[in-house]
Amino acid sequence: MEQQIYKGKLTQFHRLKIAKKEDLTKNTFSLELEIPEDLKENFKFEAGQFVSVKFNAEEKEVINDYSMTSAPYEEKIALGIKINSPNGVTAQLYKNYQAGDELLVSEPNGRFTLVSKPSEFRTIVGFAAGIGITPILSHFKNILHNEPRTRLFLFLGNKRSEELVYRDLLDNLAKQHHNRLQIFYFYSQEKTADQFFYGRLDAKKLNLIINQILHLDDTDEESTIWDAVDEVLICGKGEMIKTLANACYHHGIPKKNIHFELFEEFNDDIYPVEKEFPLIENVEVDFQLLGKNYQTVLSNNREKILQQLLIQKFPVPYSCKSGICGSCECTVEEGEVELLENEYLTEKEEAQGKILACMSIAKTKKIKLNFDFN
Ligand code: FES
Repeated sequence: MEQQIYKGKLTQFHRLKIAKKEDLTKNTFSLELEIPEDLKENFKFEAGQFVSVKFNAEEKEVINDYSMTSAPYEEKIALGIKINSPNGVTAQLYKNYQAGDELLVSEPNGRFTLVSKPSEFRTIVGFAAGIGITPILSHFKNILHNEPRTRLFLFLGNKRSEELVYRDLLDNLAKQHHNRLQIFYFYSQEKTADQFFYGRLDAKKLNLIINQILHLDDTDEESTIWDAVDEVLICGKGEMIKTLANACYHHGIPKKNIHFELFEEFNDDIYPVEKEFPLIENVEVDFQLLGKNYQTVLSNNREKILQQLLIQKFPVPYSCKSGICGSCECTVEEGEVELLENEYLTEKEEAQGKILACMSIAKTKKIKLNFDFN
């Protein structure tokens, strides 16, 4: 076992053997990892989580996060991986590691998870683009297995059909569970027989989906399927998530029910700041994180604190960036901060000065935060 601070958290890595490696499309592949008996507990996971994989690429050590495509009940760790460029680090992972080789793999992580409700009748909608299907595949398999009454809709975007991963698996799931799962494929760079399925998944497309697919509800004449949506899962690149999360929110889904997983560095706010504040420039920030003290200056208080610290490459912890998961929880020790939205802290914690850095704006020229001792 090796320990290392990664993304602001002390992370444990274990040596795992690659049990299986398979090509999926021209630039995607899957890895299945072998979990020895004595590590079974360490590698228990929830649908939607990921592992961080440490490997060598051009003599440098690299750590990348990859989501599980397997569901917890399958009791295996399977990953779906995209090679973004022929000379990038993932291409090295593909070329240099074969079945039987070992990789250093972190214990499962991530908050793109849902509470399981096996006795409820739920409606869950997933939006994914490209390789963003991976954690949603894990969720959907898990829900179909654990929640006999839940119905699922998946809207999956790709540039072209040749880039679509897990097509057979998805079609089989839809066939097997035809009364509970419907999947719709969209292409942005390939003509489709029906114009409806041409183009990106964006706010305009969501309008059409709500009006033409998620409209009449056989189970309830009074409402539409969209009105019945309990949870939305979105996975893909930052801009797509921002657009769809805001569109879902404007169409009535509470933010706490919109879950997303970013598949790239994205330091923009997912939801825009709606309140106005007096402008403060050059905000001085002191903060403590994993026993170390840091000092910096934020250019102003227009952007949320976490986003500005991430742009400056500080290793602050985060996950959802939308006030839901609690990863960026910290205490205000000096100065004033406005917590704009919060789905995580209790009133008591807020009264104790706890905030979520991803949802907070500085209200004084100097602030002091402590990410330790939460
Ligand atoms: S990153 Fe999830 S609450 Fe801030």
